[in-house]
Amino acid sequence: MSLRHFIHQARQAGCLIEIHREVSAHLELARVAAALDGKPVLFHRVAPTPALPRPFRTGEGAFPVLVGAGSAREYYAFGLGVPAEKLLFTLADALAHPPAPKVIENGACQEVVEHDVDLGHLPILTHLPTDRAPYITAGVAIIRDPDHGRNVSFHRLMVTGPRTVAARIVEGRGTDTAWRKAQDGLPVAICIGNSLAVLLAASMSPPKGVDELGIANAMSPTPLVQCKTVDLQVPAETEIVLEGRITHTLTDEGPFLDLTETMDYMRQQPVIEIDCITHRQDAIYQALLPGKLEHKLLMGMPKEPTIYAAVNEVCECRDVAITPGGTSWLHAVVSIVKRGPGDGRRAIEAAFKGHGSLKHVVVVDDDIAIHDPAEVEWAIATRFQADRDLVVLADQPGSSLDPSAAHVPGQKTRTAKMGLDATIPWGAKWEDYEKVRYEDVDVREYRSARPTSQSEIQPAQNDDPWSKPGSGRALA
Ligand SMILES: Cc1cc2nc3c(=O)[nH]c(=O)nc-3n(C[C@H](O)[C@H](O)[C@H](O)COP(=O)(O)O)c2cc1C
Repeated sequence: MSLRHFIHQARQAGCLIEIHREVSAHLELARVAAALDGKPVLFHRVAPTPALPRPFRTGEGAFPVLVGAGSAREYYAFGLGVPAEKLLFTLADALAHPPAPKVIENGACQEVVEHDVDLGHLPILTHLPTDRAPYITAGVAIIRDPDHGRNVSFHRLMVTGPRTVAARIVEGRGTDTAWRKAQDGLPVAICIGNSLAVLLAASMSPPKGVDELGIANAMSPTPLVQCKTVDLQVPAETEIVLEGRITHTLTDEGPFLDLTETMDYMRQQPVIEIDCITHRQDAIYQALLPGKLEHKLLMGMPKEPTIYAAVNEVCECRDVAITPGGTSWLHAVVSIVKRGPGDGRRAIEAAFKGHGSLKHVVVVDDDIAIHDPAEVEWAIATRFQADRDLVVLADQPGSSLDPSAAHVPGQKTRTAKMGLDATIPWGAKWEDYEKVRYEDVDVREYRSARPTSQSEIQPAQNDDPWSKPGSGRALA
C-alpha cells in the first residue's frame, strides 16, 4: 500500500487528522504535529516564512506535508494488512524470505523531473529554535555497495544550500562502509514519501547482502523504477526522489534532537550534492518528528524479531515489546513460557545478544500483557525479588544514544545492563501469583439502558461527602 493509498484508507477509517489552516514549515508545523503525536496528520497548506533567508526559507512549492503515518503500531498493521499482534512475525518472515521486487518502465515518482534543483521548494521543516537549518527527517537513502549490493537506510539531512545537504551517517553501517569505498563520491537516491513497508525495511539491519527493498516487497508489493541520473532503482510509488552523490567533503552537521529526546551533538559529516529531483505531479512531502512516536516505533520494532529469535534459542519465547518509555531502543519486555528454573535468567542473557544496544530487560510469564506498562510493573511488584531475580552486568558495550553511558571518542560506548526476571518462581503455586480478574461484561448494554424513574434522572443534591467543608476537594 503506497503512502497516498494509506492516507486515503486512514481518511476512510476516520483516523487521519487534516489541517486546512496555513502553517509555516519553520517551527510551527513541527509544534502542531508534536501536539498531535500518535496520529497521522496531513497539513494541506504549508507556507514559507518570507522573512527568512535561504536555505532556511523552505516550502515555496505547494506540497502538503504528512507527519505521523507510522506513529502507532495499528497503522503498520493497517498499512501491511496484518493484525497488530502479528507484526513481529510479519517482520521476521519478510527478513527470512525477501522476494526480489519487479522493475517497471514508468514510475509515478518520475511524473515531474527537475534538473534545476532547488530544495527551497520542498516544505522541509525546521523543528526547534536551536536547529541550525531545516532537516529532511523521513528520507530513505538507497545506495549500492560494490561488494554487498543495495543498502537502504534512514539518514537525517540538514539543508546547507539550495542543492546540498549534510547527512548524518553512523559509522560502520551499510552507507558508511560503501561511502568509504567510493573515491569519487557515492551515488545516492533519497526517497521521501514512502509506504510503511519501505519505512520499516529501511529501519532494519539485515545481514550484508540481504536487500531491504526485497524485505519491503515481502510485506507489501514494492515495484521499482530506474533513476534518471544515477544507476539506482527506487520504489516507483515514492512521492519525491532526490538523486545525487555523497561526496567526501565534510561539514558541520547538528546539533539535532535524537531518539532519546535529548540533543545529539555537532559532528563533521559528508555533504550530499543533489543533481536531480523527481516527483509526482501532486506530491506529498513526508516528515517524521525526531524523538516522537514514529521515530521510536521505526527504531524499536525491527529489533523485536531479533530479540525474539535469540530468546527462542534458549527457551520458549511468546512475544517481545520494545517500549516507548525506554526510548524504543534501550528497554524491552520479553514474554516466555517457563519450562525450567533457569529460563528467566537465560532469556535475559539472550535478549541482550538479540539487540546489542538493549540496556534493561524485564522477562515475564505469558499471562502478562507486555504492551501495557501497568501490567509489567504489576509483574515486577508481585513476582520479583531483587536479591534473587536481578541480573546486573557491569561495563558492557552499549548504545551511543544513552547520555548516561560512558562515551570515549573513537571507542565503543560502555554501559551497565540490568535484567529483571519477573516470572513466577519455579516450583511456586501458580494460583498464588495469578492476577484474579473480574469476568468480562459488555458495558454498552448497561450504559444504553434508559432511566425508569424521575429519581434516576435528577440525582440527589449535596450528598457528595467530598464537597463538604473541611474535605480536601472543598479546599482545592
Ligand atoms: C527514523 C530513523 C532515523 C534514523 N536516522 C539515522 C541517521 O540519521 N543516520 C544513520 O546513520 N542512521 C539512522 N537511522 C538508522 C538506520 O536507518 C538504520 O541503522 C539502518 O537500518 C542501518 O542499516 P544498515 O546497517 O543496513 O546500514 C535511523 C533510523 C530510523 C528508524
